[in-house]
Amino acid sequence: MEEPTAFPFEELLALRAEEVESQLRLLLDTRPREGEIARPEDLVAAMRHGVLNGGKRLRPFLLMETAALFDAGGEAVLRAACALECVHCYSLIHDDLPAMDDDDLRRGQPTVHRQFDEATAILAGDSLLTYAFDIIADAETDLPAATRLALVKGLARAAGLGGMAGGQALDLAAERETPGEQEIVLLQAMKTGALIRYACEAGAIVGEAGAAERERLSAFGEAIGLAFQLADDLLDLTASPETMGKATGKDAAAGKATLAGLHGEDWARSQLCGLVAQAEELLEPFGEKAAILRHTARFVAHRDR
Ligand code: IPE
Ligand code: IPE
Ligand code: MG
Ligand code: MG
Ligand code: MG
Repeated sequence: MEEPTAFPFEELLALRAEEVESQLRLLLDTRPREGEIARPEDLVAAMRHGVLNGGKRLRPFLLMETAALFDAGGEAVLRAACALECVHCYSLIHDDLPAMDDDDLRRGQPTVHRQFDEATAILAGDSLLTYAFDIIADAETDLPAATRLALVKGLARAAGLGGMAGGQALDLAAERETPGEQEIVLLQAMKTGALIRYACEAGAIVGEAGAAERERLSAFGEAIGLAFQLADDLLDLTASPETMGKATGKDAAAGKATLAGLHGEDWARSQLCGLVAQAEELLEPFGEKAAILRHTARFVAHRDR
């Protein structure tokens, strides 16, 4: 059954993306904030190039829509969502570096190291990562201190050693030694799943959800996180660089084992349906309120970009 939403899903996603982009534009200006000495112009320009370039803004969307389940919203939630997007964009800038995936195109534009240089791209990534924690911790993110602390801790765990960065390390190792299926699932849950899971967990945190609801929404994030990377790998196999705004066909060329590559397209599509069903089941207790999140699960799995 199609659920009613105030907007067609894609329009709502675009609307939220605009809100996120304008807030990011404000955050990434050249005016030094209290305690900062100066903001080097070239570095800000590189950060802006890596951030203000039309990403889908899916992670902020998930954070904001999960928060909306608990009637939480406004500028504080938007700032937390932007912090998460800063970490995501940093991960893309570093992922594209010659030492990692060595990509020239991202979101339809030259990657940051191609537009600027490698050192600037590394530093733009570093600065985005640290800025994310600044944004959350700052009193301008008008949430109780304990809430901000929980957001910081969750983001650190999702982005770092036991999350995204750790997953990227496993991903690179997997180019040297072919991983088994379980290892692929693990590295994907870390490199991509962790930030998506956090997006949903963070929405529950800002919504002051109870422990059981927070767990449930984290599990929802985990399911769509897996679906997200499975879809990315499928799109790498099947989509054109023009639609994706990034190179495709790279995983196979790099000898990267992915689940979609291992089991083929049909298997991947049926897995995606299973993950969507699992995600939808987790949303059941939230009823009609979770209609947008249900759409999001389907979008993540069946997207074409
Ligand atoms: C791409 O993420 C990197 C992966 C984790 C697979 P997205 O597909 O969300 O990229 P943008 O932000 O929309 O460009
Ligand atoms: C990247 O995975 C995950 C990140 C942590 C950035 P990929 O290397 O498959 O992402 P794309 O395909 O370059 O966007
Ligand atoms: Mg990569
Ligand atoms: Mg890559
Ligand atoms: Mg990919």
